[in-house]
Amino acid sequence: MSSSARRQSLNRIVVINPKGGCGKSTLVTNIASCYAKRNQSTVIMDYDPQGSSIAWLQRRDSSLPEISGIAAFKQSMQATRSWQLRVPGETNNLLVDSPAGLGHDDLRELTRDASSILIPVLPSPMDIHAVSRCIADLLLVAKINRNERKLAVVANRTRKNTKSFTRLMRFLDSLGIPIIAVLRDSQNFIHAAESGTGLHDMHPPSRAKPDIEQIDRIVSWLDNWQQRRKMGIQVASIAGKTVPRLGQSTTQSA
Ligand SMILES: Nc1ncnc2c1ncn2[C@@H]1O[C@H](COP(=O)(O)OP(=O)(O)OP(=O)(O)O)[C@@H](O)[C@H]1O
Ligand SMILES: [Mg+2]
Repeated sequence: MSSSARRQSLNRIVVINPKGGCGKSTLVTNIASCYAKRNQSTVIMDYDPQGSSIAWLQRRDSSLPEISGIAAFKQSMQATRSWQLRVPGETNNLLVDSPAGLGHDDLRELTRDASSILIPVLPSPMDIHAVSRCIADLLLVAKINRNERKLAVVANRTRKNTKSFTRLMRFLDSLGIPIIAVLRDSQNFIHAAESGTGLHDMHPPSRAKPDIEQIDRIVSWLDNWQQRRKMGIQVASIAGKTVPRLGQSTTQSA
């Protein structure tokens, strides 16, 4: 397969939010362990100099389904493209863990060619303010096209009926960005992080059932990336046909 065909078929999931501690590495590791459990070839590319996802992989027992790791933080972010060439050809899913406090250039570079972009957010007013900035940057700086439906939010460590959560829902609704899952504050995530496991590796899984259900919701949404992309292209081409350009008449002159 040519490198551009490979880029087209690779499920490249970028987890991003410049706010620290909102759950980026938690999402990356749990989604990766879900894919690995399905026997899909999965790679984590960690761009965070803290190396949390790589450290998690090092704690992971070799008897568990395999996940590979690339410590991309050892290179400059501008080298992203050449690093992507290091991803083994048979990879189905590439999960990108990003650092807190990303600048505009890095944001553009990391989100280029993403199949999906997940934004975890904590429900505090400060975090909601920060995520509004992050979404604005993704749309205006990284030029993510909303029609492509790549963007989704995961509300983390949250209770549904709080004022700030309702405000967040309203804001995202106005932008047409879905909240695809709501993760509760749960020790299961902390135990999993400490032991190099994901919720899908847990025995017995019933212990973490409500949390696993939310991860499964995220993964179902991610699995649909090709359909979302197709629909986005259709929406864009319909819009291109029906919306006249400025200064262009909609009626033909004789
Ligand atoms: N739903 C949750 N319930 C309980 N603990 C959680 C939950 N989500 C994340 N945590 C814990 O919160 C801490 C921060 O999460 P995590 O490391 O995933 O955030 P991050 O966005 O990757 O942080 P950083 O920006 O520093 O990389 C970790 O100790 C993690 O185990
Ligand atoms: Mg992290």
